[in-house]
Amino acid sequence: MGLFRNCQQRVMATLYGPLMARYDRFIAPYKEDLFRQVRGRVLEIGPGPGGNLRYLNSVPTWVGLEPNRYMHRAIRKQLSSTGNQGEILERRAENMPYDEDDFDFVISTLVLCSVSHPQRVLDEIARVLKPGGRFLFIEHVAAAKGTGLRILQHALAPGFRICGDGCCPHRETGEWIRRSRFSRVEFQEFRAPATALPWVISPHIAGFAEVS
Ligand SMILES: C[S@@+](CC[C@H](N)C(=O)[O-])C[C@H]1O[C@@H](n2cnc3c(N)ncnc32)[C@H](O)[C@@H]1O
Repeated sequence: MGLFRNCQQRVMATLYGPLMARYDRFIAPYKEDLFRQVRGRVLEIGPGPGGNLRYLNSVPTWVGLEPNRYMHRAIRKQLSSTGNQGEILERRAENMPYDEDDFDFVISTLVLCSVSHPQRVLDEIARVLKPGGRFLFIEHVAAAKGTGLRILQHALAPGFRICGDGCCPHRETGEWIRRSRFSRVEFQEFRAPATALPWVISPHIAGFAEVS
């Protein structure tokens, strides 16, 4: 890994918790609502410092694919403080080391904005989910076509990628999930307030996609 990338990851691991404290409070009710159904074998992609573990009720298996190894210590702390059993792999979600039909749930929050190949990740998620298994997501997405916010998202994208550890503000994640291999997709759209997250990444989706 290059020196710059290494620095980016260290900075992200150090600042992520404090920077996201207000957002975490804002998003908590959405997560409580969405993650209430989680049980069985759970795979989380890009768990960051592991903040979602507090919403899971002692699931028997949790695996986190987190390529930023500087996040792993915080995840281990969350695992022990929430009483969850888990395993952390320093891997990307584009290529998952699992067989088909292996997990009951896959979770992703604010990750599909930063993966290098979103479609490949969605294909992998659908592949490793058992029939009837669900992909649960909360993601920031592109603003509606023709809006000033969408123009701004495109204009600020290069800076965002550098400062936000690869984050892209204008991904059509909802559309991509709809067009993927899932048989049923449901999500709500909402905005995060400017007090919680920069306005440019305020449009959000939260919901599930099921495989049959
Ligand atoms: C914005 S953070 C979100 C962290 C956490 N999910 C949350 O909601 O607070 C994005 C995370 O995705 C991870 N990530 C980036 N590219 C990834 C990839 N290709 N596969 C898996 N995780 C990735 C990053 O290392 C980072 O921890």
